[in-house]
Amino acid sequence: MDKLVISGGKKLKGRVSISGAKNAAVAILPAAALCDEVCRIENIPNISDINLMCRILSDMGANVKMINNNTIEIDPTHMISNSAPHDLMKNMRASSYLLGVLLGKFGEANVCLPGGCDFGVRPIDQHLKGFSALGAECNLNGGIINVRADKLVGAHIYLDVVSVGATMNIMLAAVRAEGLTVLENAAKEPHIVDLANFLNCMGADISGAGTDVIKIRGVKRLKGTTYSIIPDQIEAGTYMAIAAATKGDVIIENVIPKHLESITAKLEEMGIDLTIDDDAIRVSCSGRIKKCNIKTMPHPGFPTDMQPQITALLSTADGTSMVNEAVWDNRFRYIDELRRMGANISVDGRVAVIEGVDKLIGAPVKAVDLRAGAALVLAGLCAEGTTTIESIHHIERGYENIIEKLQNIGADIKKISCEDDKSGESVG
Ligand code: EPU
Repeated sequence: MDKLVISGGKKLKGRVSISGAKNAAVAILPAAALCDEVCRIENIPNISDINLMCRILSDMGANVKMINNNTIEIDPTHMISNSAPHDLMKNMRASSYLLGVLLGKFGEANVCLPGGCDFGVRPIDQHLKGFSALGAECNLNGGIINVRADKLVGAHIYLDVVSVGATMNIMLAAVRAEGLTVLENAAKEPHIVDLANFLNCMGADISGAGTDVIKIRGVKRLKGTTYSIIPDQIEAGTYMAIAAATKGDVIIENVIPKHLESITAKLEEMGIDLTIDDDAIRVSCSGRIKKCNIKTMPHPGFPTDMQPQITALLSTADGTSMVNEAVWDNRFRYIDELRRMGANISVDGRVAVIEGVDKLIGAPVKAVDLRAGAALVLAGLCAEGTTTIESIHHIERGYENIIEKLQNIGADIKKISCEDDKSGESVG
């Protein structure tokens, strides 16, 4: 079991380049299987969730070729299976996108209930509601979901909950349906727009992505294309919060500032200096940050995937802040770990009340999920002394080269394996 060891208290300075968006890439890779030609996808983040998705597609007969660290070619012409490999699927939420893809491609999909970060109940009823409206029968048997249709026909679908996953999955199935699908109360995240743009490059006819009504006119055939994925909004936000927490001065490069507006607005409210350029944001911070209240919401609201990092940042703010998690039932499991580092945070249901402390103190902690892990990295980097973080596989699911990127801006962070750990107990 690998761990991260961080010696905190360094002011970070320099430049960080943001990788491709994980939550776009995990949908776009399987979407490539909808055509019968080769797709070349660029700016793919080199992270474990992507490796897993590539293994799933290979296992189903697709030819997945790594051109370099961030470019993949997918040739789905020999894919014949409508069943996704269950052992690989159960670890990944985005594996549910294979339901829409296989239903669109073969008229049938067998996929096990998806895994992913544990934030309490993670239903997929809205995905299934969409597939049913398109004419599919949906059955759950022994943890495997079977969706099947003789013919998919466009429909008018209203989502009861704004869901990224359901919006993407319904788009994936509807691109090959007969006629027009109108999806109302759709999610509007940048990765929804990226998936729609990719599908349109393949010859789909989708309009309205990025608004809450998406129209998808089904087409008979999709063709191969070359496509470059957008930068990761959450990775960018994480480095912005890290720059501020360490009282640093960091230029975050390769970003789309429009995608970051809810985050930049809140950082400015905390008194953090931002210089926003066309594709870069400079973040600098000297004094203590100001308290701030935040409520997570679907895009364009403040993203839930930044909630743990921002809570960690506010743990040393001047005054009392409140963070309301309005998307997930149970996304505060990491707070106990921050408390080990001296944070003064109480949680009541979906609300965390953060009494800012003067400083955090390094401690042994454990990443309970991906963004919780990122929050602990932030906490470790600004804390006094040494922090060790266990279960870093969660962090590796979503942050490309996080250690090197942080070392390049002056952080004292390294990964140790179990053996190193035994030989070097002085580390802790
Ligand atoms: N929901 C339902 N029914 C459904 C689907 C969702 O009630 O059929 C509810 C959920 O319980 C939740 C809310 O709707 O309360 C939003 O869920 P959504 O479907 O939007 O989430 P998701 O598609 O499962 C994606 C990201 C998550 C991110 C959420 C919200 C991917 C692979 N995952 O999950 O990202 O938190 O959207 O923005 O895109 C992460 O990257 O760390 C991460 C967890």
